[in-house]
Amino acid sequence: MKINKKNYRTIWYDKKEDNVKIIDQTQLPHKLEIVSLKSLEDTLIAIKNMQVRGAPLIGATAAYGIYLAYRELSNKTKIYEASKKIKSTRPTAVNLFWAVDKMMKIIDLNLPFRETEKKLLNEANKLCEEDIQNCKKIGEFGFEIIKKISERKKEINVLTHCNAGWLATIDWGTATAPIYLAKKNNLNIHVWVDETRPRNQGALLTSYELNNENINNTVITDNTAGLLMQRKEIDLCIVGADRVTSNGHVANKIGTFLKALAAKEFNIPFYVAVPYSTIDWNIKNFKDIIIEERDESELKQIKGIDDSNKIRTINVYPSDSKVYNPAFDLTPNKFITNLITNKGVIRPNERDIIKLKNE
Ligand code: MRU
Repeated sequence: MKINKKNYRTIWYDKKEDNVKIIDQTQLPHKLEIVSLKSLEDTLIAIKNMQVRGAPLIGATAAYGIYLAYRELSNKTKIYEASKKIKSTRPTAVNLFWAVDKMMKIIDLNLPFRETEKKLLNEANKLCEEDIQNCKKIGEFGFEIIKKISERKKEINVLTHCNAGWLATIDWGTATAPIYLAKKNNLNIHVWVDETRPRNQGALLTSYELNNENINNTVITDNTAGLLMQRKEIDLCIVGADRVTSNGHVANKIGTFLKALAAKEFNIPFYVAVPYSTIDWNIKNFKDIIIEERDESELKQIKGIDDSNKIRTINVYPSDSKVYNPAFDLTPNKFITNLITNKGVIRPNERDIIKLKNE
């Protein structure tokens, strides 16, 4: 999608420089900085420090990380240690583990080094292309839902939480793909963007990417959606996910669960847009999902840009206040209307989800 009218992806292999490029999301929306990943260490830092974030993009970065690790490690067996390191960067988005396992299947220590190296790069590139196709499919299926609402309403108001846009994937996004298609089809669409404390991915990333695509959007605090639902100013909610259990429970950015609860009260459809790679086939009980707990500085400090264009961080809390900062929450399937997947719109239950595996 576009930034300043130019098309970008969030990650790509740069053939000329023989490295991997990412958009550094810690600098957005203030600065557009492209960073090179040249090693395993660069990859670990990029994922841990959230230069890349969002479940599908974390997965894609991890895949390139295996490629970068393989080519720099003199002892080929060390790649297994590297894969463990990559898996330990962030615990909740299952795409990370899925991508590493997919890449590790390619490694055959009996093959010539160069052959495996080439195969790994091809696999990482392929994973990115497939993610884009999956997001496009999610877009097509989700668009039908929006189109139906447009038959009875002039303006369609969508609520989204965090960033499940193209910046969280390779292109298009999951929750935003139906919105981008609605805009392309000239539907009158407006997005309520949850600010998404503490890291403000909604305000800093979702609103930014929607602005760049000329999509009408308004940022609200995380506590505003209840009032808007009560006033019938939200027609549907679409969020992404970091992990979906095999029976349809959802882990997503902290605050998602409360939105789903409120939506149920007001009979507002609550959709979760997910590609196949976000489904954890090994977990049924959502309590088994590890919720990442992040540093207290994310609450106690705030980052912004000053008048001289410098990015600054300031302290906003009493330094001796205790804080608790879980990054994700869990939405039981009974609060979810349907999952919008790359294979269609399905019920969030085991019977329907398992079909995705078999098709
Ligand atoms: O902590 P983040 O920014 O990686 O969290 C991202 C989210 O929670 C997204 O909503 C989720 O990964 C879906 S991305 C298509």
